[in-house]
Amino acid sequence: MSEQLKKIFPKAQDFLPINGTDYVEFYVGNAKQAAHFYKTAFGFQSLAYSGLETGDVTKTSYVLCQDKIRIVLTTPMSGNSEIEKHITKHGDGVKIIALWVDDATSAWEETTKRGAKSYLNPSRIEDENGIVIRSGIHTYGDTVHVFIERKDYKGIFLPGFQKWDSAYNPEPIGLKYIDHMVGNVGWNEMNVWEDFYRDVMGFANLITFDDKDISTQYTALMSKVMTNGNGRIKFPINEPAEGAKKSQIEEYLDFYNGPGCQHIAIATDDIVDTVTKMKARGVEFLHVPETYYDTVIERVGEIDEEITKLKNLSILIDRDDEGYLLQIFTKPVEDRPTLFFEIIQRKGAQSFGKGNFKALFEAIELEQEKRGTLN
Ligand code: FE2
Repeated sequence: MSEQLKKIFPKAQDFLPINGTDYVEFYVGNAKQAAHFYKTAFGFQSLAYSGLETGDVTKTSYVLCQDKIRIVLTTPMSGNSEIEKHITKHGDGVKIIALWVDDATSAWEETTKRGAKSYLNPSRIEDENGIVIRSGIHTYGDTVHVFIERKDYKGIFLPGFQKWDSAYNPEPIGLKYIDHMVGNVGWNEMNVWEDFYRDVMGFANLITFDDKDISTQYTALMSKVMTNGNGRIKFPINEPAEGAKKSQIEEYLDFYNGPGCQHIAIATDDIVDTVTKMKARGVEFLHVPETYYDTVIERVGEIDEEITKLKNLSILIDRDDEGYLLQIFTKPVEDRPTLFFEIIQRKGAQSFGKGNFKALFEAIELEQEKRGTLN
C-alpha cells in the first residue's frame, strides 16, 4: 500500500476487498458492429460470446479482451426489455462496472446493510467449467456494480458463454488495464456519491478538485476522486459548476439523460505507439493548441519522450511530486456527446493531470461550440 493510501485509510480494515475490475459491460444498439469497432480501433481481441447459439434468446453479448481489460458489449434481442429501455434513454453506454471479489455474498451483504440498493441478490451460476457467484448494487444513475466471485470457475468468461473464434483479429495496441473510470453526476450530487463510495463501499477520497482547479473562461466543474483500499479501483466523480456557459458535464447529463460513466481511462506503457496506432485505425482525439507545447517543458521539466512526437499526436504532459504522466482523450465514441476514453501512461505520477485541465477543457469547449451546446 502506498504512503498516500495508508494516510487516507488509517484503519486497515477493508469490509469490501476488491481484487480489480472484472469487466465493463456496455449496453449498445448493435453489439456485433460495436465489437468490430473495438477490435479494429482499440485492438481488443475476441474472447467469448453468448446469444441465440448458446441458448440466450433475450440478448447477445460479445466479450473482448486486451491484457487485463475485459469489455462486454450487449444488445437486446427484442423491444420492451430493460436493456432496450436503457439504450432508448441513454444511447450506447456503460451499464455494469463489474468488480472482482473473493466473496460476492459478503460484498453484497456488507454494502446493502450500509444502504446500497440491491441490483442482484447473491446468485450462483454454473456450467461444466465450475461455479460463479454474482451479486450487484446500484450506483449513480442507471449504472450498477456487479460483484463477481470466480475462484471456482475455469471457463473462458462466465457460465453461458462460449469461446468466440473469429477470423478477424487485428493486433492489440498496448492497452493494459483500466486506470480509472469517471462518473458524471448532477448538480449538488458529488458529495452524495462521495458519501456512497465512502460509507457504503469503504472507499476514501484521494483528491478533490474544486471549480477553481477545473475552470476556463466559460465553464467549470468539480471532481472528487474516490479509491478503494488497495488503490486498484479509482472512481472520480464529477459534477457541473456554475460558469458563464454550459459545461461539458451538463452537456453529458443532457444527452445521457442523467448521470453515467463519462470516461474510461486505460493505461499503456508506450503512449506514443498506442496513440499512433489508434489514430491510424480511425480513433479521433481532442486536439490542444500547439501553443500548449511552447511552455510545457518549463512546467513539467525534463521528460524521456521527444516533445515533437507528443506535439504531433496532441499528447498532454503533467507532473506531480512522484513523477510525470502522459495522457490524451478521445472524442466521444458514440454520436451522442457522452462516453469517451482516456489513454494514460504513468511515469511515477499517481495524479490525474491537473495541470492539463484548462487546456483540455478549452479543447472540449471547441467541440461543444461545433455541436451548438456551449450556450
Ligand atoms: Fe481521467
